[in-house]
Amino acid sequence: MSTVKPSISIDEQSLITSELFRGKSVVQTDDNTDGEILEYSGKLSIILELAKQGFENARPAAEIVARLAGDLHQMRATSSTAVWEKLVAIAQDHPVAEFLAEDPLSNWSFTKPRGYSGDASLLDLYYQHPSMASEVAEATPRGREIYDYTVNVPACAAGRERCQILARTVDEAAERAGGDVEIFAVAAGHLREAEICKSLPAGKIKRWVALDQDPVSVGVMTRDIGGAVVQPMTGSVMGLLKRSYGHLGDFDLVYASGLYDYLQRKVAIKLMQRMVEFVRPGGMLLFANFSDEITSDGYMETFMDWPLILRSADDMWDIINASVDRNAFDCDVWYGTNRNIVYGTLRRK
Ligand SMILES: C[S@@+](CC[C@H](N)C(=O)[O-])C[C@H]1O[C@@H](n2cnc3c(N)ncnc32)[C@H](O)[C@@H]1O
Repeated sequence: MSTVKPSISIDEQSLITSELFRGKSVVQTDDNTDGEILEYSGKLSIILELAKQGFENARPAAEIVARLAGDLHQMRATSSTAVWEKLVAIAQDHPVAEFLAEDPLSNWSFTKPRGYSGDASLLDLYYQHPSMASEVAEATPRGREIYDYTVNVPACAAGRERCQILARTVDEAAERAGGDVEIFAVAAGHLREAEICKSLPAGKIKRWVALDQDPVSVGVMTRDIGGAVVQPMTGSVMGLLKRSYGHLGDFDLVYASGLYDYLQRKVAIKLMQRMVEFVRPGGMLLFANFSDEITSDGYMETFMDWPLILRSADDMWDIINASVDRNAFDCDVWYGTNRNIVYGTLRRK
C-alpha cells in the first residue's frame, strides 16, 4: 500500500500545499492518542534539542542532519497519522528550524516562493542547475554545508537520475520513431531533460508539447527552449480531464514526472486513462513516483513542509491495472538505481 501519511483530497488543478494536505485531514485526535502524543513529543523534543546544540557547537552539518532525518523517519514510520501531524507542527516551531532554514533547498521548499511545494525551481536546486547557483552562493557558510548534505540524500540523487532517465527515454523514442518523434510532457516544470537529451539538438524531434499549470514554469520554458519544436503550454490535470485544450494530437511518448506524487489513487487513474488516449500504437507512456522506500520523508514533511504520496511497485501496478486494458499494452514497473523513485511504463501494442 502507498504510504499516504496525511489523509488528503487534492483537486486535479494542483497548487498543492501542505495546508491542503493537512487542512483536508479527517484525522481527529482523541483520548487514545493523548498518551502516544506525550510519548512521541517527549522523544521529539530531545531529538530537536540535540540537533540545535549540534549547530550551536558547530558540529558537522551532515552528521547533525543525517541523525535528525533518520530519527524523523523512524517517528513518521511508527506513529499514527494523527500523532505525526502534531509532531510536524512541533518540529516546525522549534528553534532548530532557524538553523535548517539556512539551507537554500529546505528554505525554498518551506517558504514556497510560488505558493506550492515542489515547484520547478526547487527541482533546479536539487538538479544543481546553474539557474539556482546564486541562491546557493548567497546562503550562509552553514547553509551551504547543510545543502551539501541535503542535496546529496538518496531522494535527491534519484531525482537527478530521473531527469537522465527522461532524457534517455526521449532519445530512445526518437530512435524508434526514425527521427520524427512527437512527445508530450505533462507537468513539465522547466523541462530540464530537454537540455541533456541528444535528439533535440540533433533535430530528431518533430514536436515536444510541455504542459504545466504554473505560468512561471511555462515562461521559463518559453524563454529558454520554446520554439517550433518545444511548445510550452499552460494547462492542468483538471484541464486535461475536462478536455479543455482541443485536439492535441497523438504522441510517440507521453510522460509525467514529479506529478503522481501529488495525486490520490482516483485522480491518478483518471489521469492515466486520459494520458493513454494520446499514445499512438507502438508509443509509450511513462510515469514516475517517489517510492515508499525513501528515508528523508520525515525531514521533508517537517523542515521542508513538503508532503508527498509515496508509492510501492504494487501501488504502481494497481494504478496501471485499474486504468488500462492489459491486452492492449505491454507494461512494466521498475525502480531507479537507489530505489527512491519507482517508474511505470505502458507501451501500446
Ligand atoms: C516536481 S515538478 C516536476 C517538473 C518536471 N516534470 C521534472 O520532473 O523535473 C512538478 C510540476 O508539476 C506541476 N503541476 C503540479 N500539479 C499540476 C497539475 N495539476 N497540472 C499541471 N501541472 C501540475 C507544477 O507546476 C510543477 O512544475
